[in-house]
Amino acid sequence: MKIVKAKNYEELSLLAATAIATQIFEKPDSVLGLATGSSPIGAYQNLIKLHKEAQLSFAKVKTVNLDEYKGLSKDDKNSYAYFMNENLFDHIDIDKNNTHIPDGLATDCDGECDSYENLISSLGGIDLQLLGIGRNGHIGFNEPDNIFSSKTHCVQLKESTINANARFFDNDMSKVPTMAFTMGIKTIMHAARILVIANGKDKAEAVRNMVNGPITPEVPASILQCHCDAVLIADEDALSLTEGLK
Ligand code: GLP
Repeated sequence: MKIVKAKNYEELSLLAATAIATQIFEKPDSVLGLATGSSPIGAYQNLIKLHKEAQLSFAKVKTVNLDEYKGLSKDDKNSYAYFMNENLFDHIDIDKNNTHIPDGLATDCDGECDSYENLISSLGGIDLQLLGIGRNGHIGFNEPDNIFSSKTHCVQLKESTINANARFFDNDMSKVPTMAFTMGIKTIMHAARILVIANGKDKAEAVRNMVNGPITPEVPASILQCHCDAVLIADEDALSLTEGLK
């Protein structure tokens, strides 16, 4: 995994946006795998700026998001569909018909997961997948487990993830959905390129385990060591426990 050290969140966000913009300039009809959470917000702000000030066009871009809470509608302000509209899609020239997120209200879980996988295949696969990392090393909503998950599936969230994400739900853990749809590890690993972003001291342990640790489903992000084109952009705090950096 290639590691790029950023001075701070601002630099990390600019570097991540530049990598995504370069992908779009080189291939205007790219399929982007997108992430939610607080980590990518700065990158999305920079992409909006590049759209407004540097003619970066998303007109032909297609997107597939990593995950969605089960039980939340796309109009719920805590859904990832709502997050993507608020933080990116409403501010760029993307055709919303080309943006895809699992349907949080789907009752046929297996059917929804299968059709999401089929959709990704029908788009020709993901050109660039953006990832954040959870404090327990999860990617998407692939929680620590004893096997690496394969394709898009429905998961039971760990208490530590519910706790970490409660900040988006008035700090009330009881309001956080306990289940989610997520691309699987195999789905993520099939992306041609992967860009992971991490900032802050509370990610330092997860980043160290992802980069320096053994490859194990106990740390789902550690599988990224096996991807041939995975880049981590992280700030100094997130890299503070990682060894072997030049
Ligand atoms: C959630 C999301 C992940 C995200 C993680 C970290 O669990 N499902 O995709 O990477 O949170 O979020 P944050 O960037 O807010 O720390």
